[in-house]
Amino acid sequence: MSTRILSTSPLVGPALSELATRFPDLLLAPFRSPAWNSALAEAEALVVVLSNPITEADLTAAPHLKVIGTLSVGVNHLPVAACQARGIAIVSTPGVLTDATADIALTLLLALTRRVAEGEALVRSGQWQGWAPDQLLGPALAGKACGILGSGPIGLAFAHRVWALGMTPLFWDRDGSGGTVYFGGGQAPRLPLAELLPRSAVLSLHCPLTEQTRGLLDRAHLEQLPAGAVLINTARGGIFDEHAAMDLLDSGRLGGVGLDVYEGEPKLNPRWLQAPRTVLLPHLGSATVETREAMAQMLCDGLAKALTTCR
Ligand code: DGY
Repeated sequence: MSTRILSTSPLVGPALSELATRFPDLLLAPFRSPAWNSALAEAEALVVVLSNPITEADLTAAPHLKVIGTLSVGVNHLPVAACQARGIAIVSTPGVLTDATADIALTLLLALTRRVAEGEALVRSGQWQGWAPDQLLGPALAGKACGILGSGPIGLAFAHRVWALGMTPLFWDRDGSGGTVYFGGGQAPRLPLAELLPRSAVLSLHCPLTEQTRGLLDRAHLEQLPAGAVLINTARGGIFDEHAAMDLLDSGRLGGVGLDVYEGEPKLNPRWLQAPRTVLLPHLGSATVETREAMAQMLCDGLAKALTTCR
């Protein structure tokens, strides 16, 4: 049987099996398995996840390809320009993972500043001796400024959350036009990095990884943060200099780093595992049942539309 839709993964919920009833020539095969490699030759649609980097060579091996659906809002693992040049549509899943991702950024922030993992480990160790005035103290958040890089839906949703904690959101975005950003709780200024960084007790990244944002924050930028600042990344690895952040953690200059994403993930720099004042999660941003089902539905709807409308 020929393969019209080639998916690297089953998806959460009924969307993919419903798609298969409409387009029975659907093959599930692990990314880069022999079956996946050979089905490329006839595939009209690919279903991929963010850990499946598709190359221009894959496009060449797929002469009938009309559409790539990715179970992510980020498309940095896809050869976007080459797809555009060939008229291959890209279907991603914006919007439906906004709250889940903003929630995980907030989880990192609170877990880090309120030392949740250390407290839990202490209780489970059986060594807890009882309440003490100076036990596991962390910085307060209310009344401080939170720099947010990216004013897309997830950045706005995170701003709303930290505003509810009593923080003052400040934005930087690729637009760079100044002015203000409305985030649901009110207006916040859009600032150049040089003004935003020295004011940010917390800095949270919510911009996509693009050529413009790759390496956006180098060592000199991170050194502009106030002493004790906390860095949160739920966007993509590669936006800030991980080595510099680890050095600044070691020296005590950075107050903490909370990460859901890493440069080169799922392999991460082993220094992270030893770094003090860190909370490290395995890319859980969109990991709620409802969100993953909605992402799958959006992807499959977009794929069906592209397959019925593309030449
Ligand atoms: C995305 O969709 O790009 C997110 O990183 C998934 O959690």
